[in-house]
Amino acid sequence: IRAQKIEARISKMVLCGATLRRVADVFEHEIEAGLQERPSSLQMENTYVPELPDGTEEGSFLALDLGGTNFRVLFLELRSGQLVQEKVKQYHISDALRLGPGDDLFNFLADCVQDFICAEGMENDTFSLGFTFSFPMKQHSISSGELITWTKSFKCGGLEGVDVAALLQQCLRARNLDVTVRVLLNDTTGTLVAGAHADPAVGIGVILGTGSNGCYMERAERVQHWERPHQTVHDVCVDVEWGAFGDNGCLNFLRTEFDDEVDARSLLVASFTFEKYIGGKYLGEILTSVLSALARDKLFPAAPRPSFLQTAHVSLFEEENCAGEVSRTLAALHDACGADVTLSSADALVAQHVAHVISNRAAQLVSVCISTLLRRMDRPYVGVAVDGSVYKHHPRIAHLMDKYITLLAPDHPFSLRGAEDGSGKGSALTAAIAARIAVRES
Ligand code: BG6
Ligand code: GLC
Repeated sequence: IRAQKIEARISKMVLCGATLRRVADVFEHEIEAGLQERPSSLQMENTYVPELPDGTEEGSFLALDLGGTNFRVLFLELRSGQLVQEKVKQYHISDALRLGPGDDLFNFLADCVQDFICAEGMENDTFSLGFTFSFPMKQHSISSGELITWTKSFKCGGLEGVDVAALLQQCLRARNLDVTVRVLLNDTTGTLVAGAHADPAVGIGVILGTGSNGCYMERAERVQHWERPHQTVHDVCVDVEWGAFGDNGCLNFLRTEFDDEVDARSLLVASFTFEKYIGGKYLGEILTSVLSALARDKLFPAAPRPSFLQTAHVSLFEEENCAGEVSRTLAALHDACGADVTLSSADALVAQHVAHVISNRAAQLVSVCISTLLRRMDRPYVGVAVDGSVYKHHPRIAHLMDKYITLLAPDHPFSLRGAEDGSGKGSALTAAIAARIAVRES
């Protein structure tokens, strides 16, 4: 009886084939509208990246990676398309910077570049820089773009509508650094480019990390938004920004009371709805919300305290579930609910089951997006480059995605390929591609 009541309580999170097909139809409709610049919850941003690596990429580059778990400054050297040297330094971005005035954040980024250059003894060198800025942008060219809105854990004042590449450039100049921002790209673009370097059949880049998003190579003629001549461009990388899918209400049929609760507690309420079903920033919060509802209904011993259960716990519960164990799940639940709460193995199994339902829904929804892109591209085979902490650390997600994409796009062969370092290697490769195009066009 308890099991039946639990199933009934979470049934709306269990998505059937018909619902997934409905989500796919809405996604396709929103893609078309976005590409044609009609109202849509999908940005479908032209990244102005018109080609992928061809093995001729050369040069030394700096790269900045802002927007994922870590902020990093990198130095990379490419020879004949191969990465021959990479140096990386990670910097901590405090809450005060993530939530304070935008100018402070960008001055800090430039300080970090200066610190990195000095630490490497490269003060007298000249650099091209690739800026991986993992937020939605209105791009005007491969090297410029305005922030549309913050997502994930960032909410700095005064930067929406500002060209972030120009602002970074200004802060670097103020420090007398001989660094030119050559490309401004999203992390999905970097992942696609890095993935295509390893396998030329890669045509889709996906991030399944703190946030979730994808990009793909679209036919240039289907893209309405061009601010420069593009007659010679056949394909172009389009940043979907699927985290915002449904922000116009078109996916309200999916929304559960748990999603409402997670949204209401989030930093950016009523924004990036779809990302809140999938992103690593939120899976732990959905788990907390469901277990709290079960506790209110006396179906679970106690509500977990806010912020104790993270997405890493969702992964842990899934891992133990696969192995038929409960000991670490119980320990985590004791931490979250309080040591004085009596918890049984059956309670641990309930938490594991809920973690699985949440993971499965996330895998289904991201698979709807990827399978829709595969159908649009309609190529004999497409490699899908994927990066991000959830993809890397969740024990089941890759397998679930493989299964659901195959079910949703049965006639479109694909393979998911882990592609690390989109913002490092991908950013340097994109800067080299931009240099190659500039030479050709000069
Ligand atoms: C990294 C990429 O591996 O994954 C970054 O190099 C990307 O570009 C990041 O932003 C996303 O994952 P997470 O989990 O850090 O958000
Ligand atoms: C958020 C950002 C998007 C990014 C994704 C993954 O959805 O809006 O630009 O690609 O997170 O980091």
